[in-house]
Amino acid sequence: LIYPIILSGGAGTRLWPLSRPETPKQFLTLLGPATMMQETVARTTGRAGFAPPLVVSGERHVALVARQIREAGSEPAAIFLEPEGRNTAGAIALAAYWLAGRDAEALMLVMPSDHAIADVESFHRAIAVACPAARSGRLVTFGIRPTHAETGYGYIEVGDAVADVPGVHHVAAFVEKPPLETARDLIGTGRHCWNGGIFLFSARAYIAELERLAPEVADACRAAMSGARDDGAYIRPDAIAFGACPSISIDYAIMEKTGDAVVVPVDMGWSDVGSWEALWTLRDRNGQDSICDGAAIDMDGRGNLVIVDGGPPVGTMGMRDCVIVSTAAGVLVMPRERSADIRALAEAMLKRT
Ligand code: GDD
Ligand code: MG
Repeated sequence: LIYPIILSGGAGTRLWPLSRPETPKQFLTLLGPATMMQETVARTTGRAGFAPPLVVSGERHVALVARQIREAGSEPAAIFLEPEGRNTAGAIALAAYWLAGRDAEALMLVMPSDHAIADVESFHRAIAVACPAARSGRLVTFGIRPTHAETGYGYIEVGDAVADVPGVHHVAAFVEKPPLETARDLIGTGRHCWNGGIFLFSARAYIAELERLAPEVADACRAAMSGARDDGAYIRPDAIAFGACPSISIDYAIMEKTGDAVVVPVDMGWSDVGSWEALWTLRDRNGQDSICDGAAIDMDGRGNLVIVDGGPPVGTMGMRDCVIVSTAAGVLVMPRERSADIRALAEAMLKRT
């Protein structure tokens, strides 16, 4: 069986003020009637070979997680609640130790809860290609064809094909979040793809590499799970033990270092909806010059993304290529082309409010 592991601990700061600490990106309906978390759940629900999902989230979002998963019609295998996030190496480790005690051969399909995949059938074909490699103890990542020198992603140098496993390549090198110059160089080689942040491996293989490459994460998470409280609805790892877990992502802790990584390149309309510009590109414009959500009127404008969600109504006139978002927590006004720079502003605004 393949267990979907849904990671839901990120902040989604770059979509401030819609995405906020109380309601981060994965809980929002950015691209349709379902939230990104619900879309993620739906990707594997009812598919042969898949177990119900394991969701790893934070204590502060317990009500949102429970409601959204119930609304999506899914009965999760388990919901883990972190007292405080320790990044993805630890979040995945909690699920891995829990699974290893039940089904050591279980495969984990690790999925961020805040990504869009337009072509789900291609995604499932790639998973099928990846399965034999994952069963043989490899750590599989899914490679996305890069379109620009983005510094917020991991870069995978696609190596030789793995013998006897069609569609699977060795990872010649893995570079997490390179500086812009390096990202440009890597793209220029034509041999690199982006890391999609989606992984497939056995619980056993992940734990083995974690214990070897990040023993502090492994020790903390093993202890946190052996002291975990399970009330039937939620699993709460021991807070003191988990508090000792270093805050590090799987990309830095494992993927940059392991020799067991392989990559399955896949073209599936992937996006991490990481910015207002990305959302603008993904949204259906219905032939309109601007996108207006909620109580917004855009007059004589073009290329504007205007969203009113809980804030005062917005009227714009003659604006070009802007993002304007009105919420109860704050108002954002900026040129769309500055989307990549928003983090500093969002963090400053979050401190004020
Ligand atoms: N439960 C839990 N706890 N989930 C977490 C935590 C945590 O402490 N930290 C992050 N997550 C979740 C996020 O909600 C997201 O769904 C996923 O794990 C990935 O974390 P991000 O913080 O969004 O990572 P990133 O976008 O900077 O980088 C990763 O994704 C890129 C693609 O979008 C890396 O894997 C990159 O290599 C990759 O290119
Ligand atoms: Mg992300």
